[in-house]
Amino acid sequence: MDLAPATADAPAPSTTDPLWWRSAVIYQLYIRSFADGDGDGTGDLAGVRAHLDYLKQLGVDALWFTPWYASPLADGGYDVSDYRSIHPAFGELAEAEALIREALALGIRTIIDVVPNHVSNEHEWFAAALAAGRGSPGRERFWFVDTPPNNWVSNFQGGTWTQVDDGQWYLHLFTPEQPDLNWNHPDVRREHEDVLRFWFDRGVAGVRIDSAALLVKHPALPEVTGQEGPGEHPNTDRDEVHDIYRSWRAVADSYPGTRVLVGEVWMPDPVRFTNYLRADEMHTAFNFDFMTRPWRGSELRESIDSMLAAHAPVGAPSTWVLSNHDVTRTVTRYGREDSSFAFAAKRFGTPTDLELGTRRARAAALLSAALPGSLYIYQGDELGLPEVEDLPHSARQDPMHFRSNGVDPGRDGCRVPLPWAGTLPPYGFSPSTEQPWLPQPTDWALYTVEAEAADPASMLSLYRSALALRRTLQGDESFTWLGSDPDVLCFARGGGFVSVTNLSDRPIDLPEHEEFLLSSADLVAGQLPPDATAWLTAQH
Ligand code: GLC
Repeated sequence: MDLAPATADAPAPSTTDPLWWRSAVIYQLYIRSFADGDGDGTGDLAGVRAHLDYLKQLGVDALWFTPWYASPLADGGYDVSDYRSIHPAFGELAEAEALIREALALGIRTIIDVVPNHVSNEHEWFAAALAAGRGSPGRERFWFVDTPPNNWVSNFQGGTWTQVDDGQWYLHLFTPEQPDLNWNHPDVRREHEDVLRFWFDRGVAGVRIDSAALLVKHPALPEVTGQEGPGEHPNTDRDEVHDIYRSWRAVADSYPGTRVLVGEVWMPDPVRFTNYLRADEMHTAFNFDFMTRPWRGSELRESIDSMLAAHAPVGAPSTWVLSNHDVTRTVTRYGREDSSFAFAAKRFGTPTDLELGTRRARAAALLSAALPGSLYIYQGDELGLPEVEDLPHSARQDPMHFRSNGVDPGRDGCRVPLPWAGTLPPYGFSPSTEQPWLPQPTDWALYTVEAEAADPASMLSLYRSALALRRTLQGDESFTWLGSDPDVLCFARGGGFVSVTNLSDRPIDLPEHEEFLLSSADLVAGQLPPDATAWLTAQH
């Protein structure tokens, strides 16, 4: 099944290629849950530095760190109180600098998260705004009003206006601990460009831009009517937001090497989405269309077609993402009867068939790695970790869960600390026996890096083989469908690389090929079984 060359023989990733980001493999590192170096039960920079060899061996080109800054962690760090310091539980700035250098020495770049829509309510600007009082200039960096002018609904449910002691109200599209910034204020623009420079000066290769479409609000803060035309929504995807990213692009382009802007842009319209990727704006953005589709041939084919078509005119590569720290783990989602993803549909007690989901996730791993563009891997997906659905109530942290009055299970279940070795929690996550900040299941011994590295049939072995092969197979960005059966996604890439995914319910013949390279499941009598992908080289 696994005929890939040993990873050790794979060429080292180039750190000088200015177009590295177009086809890069980027590992999303959720630092709280990656590895704990100091034994307090929370992942940290020391833990990452101790496991860089693991990431090198996996074969990734870059790491994207979810926020590592000082933060009260009201929303897992997406409530930043100081962009220029590291959360003390994760380490210190000097360690982050060392990590950036050490990773780069291994050919791995670092991308960090910036959260421009809002700050923490413990950020010095918000404290100053509260102290300065009604009508003061300090309040103009936020959206303070005497009376809420609308009934906007928070992205985490509930209201978006919170009253302070002197009677004024402030806007927050997420939790009250995340006051929205006023992007019409010059300080807000200047500060964020300075933050970009602060980190680019420290060698980061790019930024992931949180909630990137939300920054600009209609100055009058009108009600959402649902009838708005493109660009007219009062708080999402307003045309003026693009000016911000043009300025950011100018900052990025003023640095040597390519410093990339990666957008978190949830946008159903593919053209409005790729507007963010015009030549003088962001480099890439997460392809959530593909990520949220059900495991069905026609759906995935349509997504691939529409996303490639939307990207072509702006010259940006697509990205391929199966999951992240906000959504249901891939093996769990693909094992559900409804294998699409929607935040609003998350419920406790939705059954899943993990064996089926894992088979599909393996097939999806090869499918997404074969498509032209960059590939994102959320930590733990390379181990096939399932969503942890039975976390004790007392352990849950996610405001999405609490603000839904407990109806939405929230996102804690995809954020459980990684199992590294051994047979009992904390499975080598911590050097001590300290239990991690979120408890790990007692049946995760099979998912440890140690166990999976020793098993050629594991998810980890599949990912290692696929990423090593992908590096050697990456040619140009060309893409051609072979065949039109809606249940068989078969395509050729530049350089004669062919990928075929069987989404039908019967085994299929492989297309004619020169060489069989790798598959996500064993062939059965020479045929590719359902829910499997094979990689081949085309016949000359
Ligand atoms: C993004 C992040 C998510 C966070 C939210 C608010 O969607 O991915 O984790 O809660 O923004 O910052």
